[in-house]
Amino acid sequence: MNLIPLTHAHIDRLLHIEQASFPTPWNSDTMTWALSEMDIHGIGLSAGNDLIGYAFLRHSIIDGIPFEQADLLNIAVDPAYRGRGYGKILLSHIMNLAWTAGTESIFLEVRTSNTNAQKLYSAMGFTPIGVRKDYYCNLHPDTSREDAVVMMASAIV
Ligand SMILES: CC(C)(COP(=O)(O)OP(=O)(O)OC[C@H]1O[C@@H](n2cnc3c(N)ncnc32)[C@H](O)[C@@H]1OP(=O)(O)O)[C@@H](O)C(=O)NCCC(=O)NCCS
Repeated sequence: MNLIPLTHAHIDRLLHIEQASFPTPWNSDTMTWALSEMDIHGIGLSAGNDLIGYAFLRHSIIDGIPFEQADLLNIAVDPAYRGRGYGKILLSHIMNLAWTAGTESIFLEVRTSNTNAQKLYSAMGFTPIGVRKDYYCNLHPDTSREDAVVMMASAIV
């Protein structure tokens, strides 16, 4: 397994994993945006030539200087490779990048129903700090929206 920087060459594979991972996946435009923004750091996990997981972190940058907060925008592992510690590897790596860059706190939102991801985040030092009501839309237009749990991790100082 190798941690690699994500590039536009990965977009087909990213979208494939994305569609297998989320009820409302990022589309091509959103993925292209994430790969293009200077303040977003994308990291991939590869097995041979195959991309099997990824994470995107956005650093808050004000006047070109990294600010003390960052947001985990996305993390997913190909369903065929889940439960083998790869999510932890990706999250641990991207958190360490943030701490090294001087970030003091990382925030994220996660669906209330996504207890597997919440367990991963708790294991990595995130704690719930609030709820965003009706934050997520659902696939079926008749289905009600879903709340997000907001979680935060802090650098050890
Ligand atoms: C969340 C996700 C990235 C975890 O990736 P993964 O490679 O399966 O995770 P790991 O094998 O590293 O597991 C890390 C921890 O997460 C929790 N976890 C992950 N999958 C779990 C499952 N199926 N059941 C229970 N706990 C689970 C456990 O705490 C686990 O630690 P442990 O094995 O020491 O108990 C993956 O399930 C995924 O891609 N899900 C769909 C996308 C998603 O929901 N992303 C998060 C959006 S907020």
